[in-house]
Amino acid sequence: MEKAVLPKLPYAYDALEPYYDAQTVELHHSKHHQAYVDGFNKAVSKVEEARESGDYSLMKHWSKEIAFHGGGHALHCMFWENLRPGSEDNAPSGALLEKIESTFGDFATFKAQFSAATAQVEGSGWGILAADADGELRIFTCENHQKAIIPGYTILLVCDVWEHAYYLKYQNRRPEWLENFFKIINWDAVASRMG
Ligand SMILES: [Fe+2]
Repeated sequence: MEKAVLPKLPYAYDALEPYYDAQTVELHHSKHHQAYVDGFNKAVSKVEEARESGDYSLMKHWSKEIAFHGGGHALHCMFWENLRPGSEDNAPSGALLEKIESTFGDFATFKAQFSAATAQVEGSGWGILAADADGELRIFTCENHQKAIIPGYTILLVCDVWEHAYYLKYQNRRPEWLENFFKIINWDAVASRMG
């Protein structure tokens, strides 16, 4: 079976400065994301071993490991695609902006709701903007990498609020990380996921 691999970033580790520091981006990508790739591959191979031996006694454990590490890998892939070198006036445009305005009233209200929801994630998790089957936008949050995900939604934008994502630069100031996250969102990538 083909193994999951760590994707190359489409920018240099220091490309998101000063909003997202090079040391955190390098550790986050090369150590943390790599660990989810490795954890997913290990779990998949353990399940393959179980199928071959017929010993399914640890299936609950390895199935949860697949969801956790597979979720972590998938969300981090989207997270890196969601980012680009930043600017103070970074914002969406075109059809995506119109959709945000028709759903939330205006971009500032969307930003306030997304930031509040994400800041209030208990422990480790993600803020998510997604579209349902009818294309309606929803903001929700995910605990760890796999809990409280809504089936059938198309994820458009994710923000990592595990401490490993921001603690070196922002320590306990998660709202400050979120404020600067908005300056490095790749809105073109978000719009392309909308279809
Ligand atoms: Fe992360």
